[in-house]
Amino acid sequence: MSNKLNRGAAIVGAGMSKFGAFPELTTRDLFVQAFREMRASVDKGFDPRDIEALYIGNFSSDLFEGQGHTAPIMADWVGLTPRPATRVEDACASSGVALRQGLIAIAAGLYDIVLVGGIEKMTNLPTERVTDTLATAGDTLYEIPAGFTFPGFYAAMATSYMDRYGATPETFMQVGLKNHENGALNDKAQFGASIRQVMAQKVARAQAKGRPVPTWADEMDFLHDDRANPVIAWPMRLFDCSPISDGAAAVLLVAEEMAKSYTDDPIYVTGSGQASDAGLHDRPDLTSIGAARFAGQRAYEMAGVRPDDIKVAEVHDCFTIAEIMAIEDLGFFPAGRGYRAAEEGLTARTGSKPVNTSGGLKSKGHPVGASGAGQVIEIWKQMRSEAGARQVSGDVDLALTHNVGGTGQTCVVHIYERR
Ligand code: COA
Repeated sequence: MSNKLNRGAAIVGAGMSKFGAFPELTTRDLFVQAFREMRASVDKGFDPRDIEALYIGNFSSDLFEGQGHTAPIMADWVGLTPRPATRVEDACASSGVALRQGLIAIAAGLYDIVLVGGIEKMTNLPTERVTDTLATAGDTLYEIPAGFTFPGFYAAMATSYMDRYGATPETFMQVGLKNHENGALNDKAQFGASIRQVMAQKVARAQAKGRPVPTWADEMDFLHDDRANPVIAWPMRLFDCSPISDGAAAVLLVAEEMAKSYTDDPIYVTGSGQASDAGLHDRPDLTSIGAARFAGQRAYEMAGVRPDDIKVAEVHDCFTIAEIMAIEDLGFFPAGRGYRAAEEGLTARTGSKPVNTSGGLKSKGHPVGASGAGQVIEIWKQMRSEAGARQVSGDVDLALTHNVGGTGQTCVVHIYERR
């Protein structure tokens, strides 16, 4: 395996809709919003008709919305037919894998300019039906009949991790706290509120309704309150879970040699790795995601960089335990040390290894098929110093995204360079 791209590619535009619950909007509306923002972000402008192909990540428009075959619909709604439009499905990693497909198409020399997108509209269904739909990303022969749901899968990983390394539920709470802190600075985030702000909202609501006003000593007291932060699947509580979300994201990817005609500040995609694995029931170790380790190694090898070189990362925190495993699987911290790094604030915006500055899936939202592309938007902003109040300090010359499908049956990792 050469693990090399025959031709490089760069991102020259990126945009997203707000993530959240939008009963009045369709997937088409959200994708058009993302497309328009992407288009406006191309510094030197461009004619969208130059786009030669679309790769659209989407997990399950069929079950969420009763609409299959979504990629050509998106092409039509942004005026790009008859260009080929392909839906890419790898559960929650769908649009991370769509990025890799775009990269491969450019590296092959088939296209010079491709649109990579991600879409999902989950909130049409009630929670229990969303849970059933998400469960189809698990193993419906061995896992789902045994009673697993996605919070249950990650709860099993969390208890296994606690048992092996001594982490506590409080560790996971720290991850949620941090990601809500970051999401509060992101106007695209579903929960644009820190935990302290959530507490204040609940107090204000109780006062307005004349109900008993809750009192909490601090954020940790709130997170321990079973009414405010109920257990979903122990030890994962409400504020350990990503929400049910609608959203879309779009990225313009072009052949490396053309990048400067779109912007003086392109973001080069220099590493890409993808891996697969068996379902959770058939893995020897629940404290690490093997596909993430493999995908990460491939991406580092292709980019010729090491974990220590990465300045900012967006990782797949569908549940807080997932962020802890990710920072270990990616080699940022040794196995069993990730939870201490989280407790010590090393992954905070101001820490030595900022992770999920966007708010992550926990706070920004997790419209599953759009989440991978959504991660790229944050990297684009951080690398170009356009992240506003959540901009990390220093030069972000190397960054990484880590996007997981299901419980880790798929993982895709990309590395980005600013030259
Ligand atoms: N984090 C924090 N608050 C959340 C939340 C979350 N993940 N999900 C919902 N809330 C809040 C709502 O804003 C609402 O707040 P309010 O009462 O102050 O208005 C309250 O909780 C109830 O919202 P509701 O939509 O009724 O929640 P729910 O009980 O139906 O759903 C979960 C909560 C955790 C079950 C749902 O978000 C979920 O299934 N998350 C996991 C999604 C998932 O598995 N994704 C795939 C990962 S691989």
